[in-house]
Amino acid sequence: MIVHGSVAVPGDKSLTHRLMLLAGLTPGRSRLRGALTSLDARSTARILRGLGIGVSSLRPNADVVVQGRARFKRPLQTLHCGNSGTTARLSLGLLAAHSFTARLTGDNSLRSRPMRRVTEPLAQMGAQFGPVDPDRLPFSVRGGPLRPLEWRLPVSSAQIKGCLLFAGLAGGVPVSLLEPSGRSRDHTERLFRGFGYAVVEDAAGWIHFSPSGALRSFDLTVPGDPSSAAFLVGAALLAEGGSLRVQGVGLNPTRTGFLRVLDRMGARVTALAGGESGGEPVGDLMVEPGPLRGTRVVATEIPGLIDEVPVLAVLASRARGESRFEEVGELRVKESDRLGLLAANLRAIGTRAAVEGNALVVEGGEARPAGRVRTAGDHRIAMAFATLRAVPGAKVHLDDLTCADVSFPGFDAALSSVLARRKARLLRG
Ligand code: S3P
Repeated sequence: MIVHGSVAVPGDKSLTHRLMLLAGLTPGRSRLRGALTSLDARSTARILRGLGIGVSSLRPNADVVVQGRARFKRPLQTLHCGNSGTTARLSLGLLAAHSFTARLTGDNSLRSRPMRRVTEPLAQMGAQFGPVDPDRLPFSVRGGPLRPLEWRLPVSSAQIKGCLLFAGLAGGVPVSLLEPSGRSRDHTERLFRGFGYAVVEDAAGWIHFSPSGALRSFDLTVPGDPSSAAFLVGAALLAEGGSLRVQGVGLNPTRTGFLRVLDRMGARVTALAGGESGGEPVGDLMVEPGPLRGTRVVATEIPGLIDEVPVLAVLASRARGESRFEEVGELRVKESDRLGLLAANLRAIGTRAAVEGNALVVEGGEARPAGRVRTAGDHRIAMAFATLRAVPGAKVHLDDLTCADVSFPGFDAALSSVLARRKARLLRG
């Protein structure tokens, strides 16, 4: 396959969730341009509506308009977070500061994901849960006046960090946090600073938040999601020739760990910085296919590329030599057991891959990939293996690609639009 053209990716998922929730808690009307309108974004919109907030319907390419209020209203029904862990964990932070009871649930995948990592510190701040000390949805939360918090996170996670910072903001109390290994994405910190809140990191790595700012309604443009861009970049790297430009991608350094790993793998990807959008650096990614070599990705790098391990592992299966992804145990509790599923699917398409403790080891090779991939409805597993469509002669069958709608509506069409058979491309000139 030949890769060609220029393509934009949907708005950043992490920023869309955070901006919608903050807009919900801000009296007045806020506008998000270029926001993500995928299933996960709709889950956050649905939760907000359940809490008495006006949110326009999420349609592709339409602005999202939020009519917020200083305090949420008590929900009349269970709040359904769908497949979205970010929706559940961030909203719990805000609900912890509201003096009413709200019940949350999610789909099968979300109901099997760990929640004690947020309910435990929120309980310490003063929120009450029913049942007490819950680890799995569904459960209810009763918030109220909160106490300050000083907390060591069990894993470096932007969802835990975001949840606790949101609780500090909504409850008007200081929060200090320490991540154990590597920095997770810092979107919450950047947004809070934009509203005048102090969020500072000390020499020992503690992040200190103090409730010194004030929310005000806003009109912001959301950059393209680097995690979505990564799948198109991956497909382009595997093609036989051509080049691809991915436009308007968020280039926050806490999200672009995959570019540093790709660089080590010998990939030809250039980031052309192009200013700022929504308080985040943005730019275009230029990609040219070429041979890749295996690499070792170490523990401190993982939080900065946690959502890109699936596509990097698929690329590693096409690279020369072995690749090791160390300390990726967190992948077991994502939308699926991504660690087990990655190894099993890589083996199913003819690659030697194994889970060794908390590491994923992939032996690259040139054999044509062929076999059946089980996605378990996980959007990133599906999109990662879909990139193999660019490999000449690949015969990889995915049991589902519609799950891409969770984060990247139109992924299948976007991928098809940038790949052309060599002959067709030559004929068209
Ligand atoms: C997210 C954080 C990440 C990531 C998820 C979105 C966020 O989870 O996997 O897709 O927006 O905070 P963790 O930081 O919990 O690993």
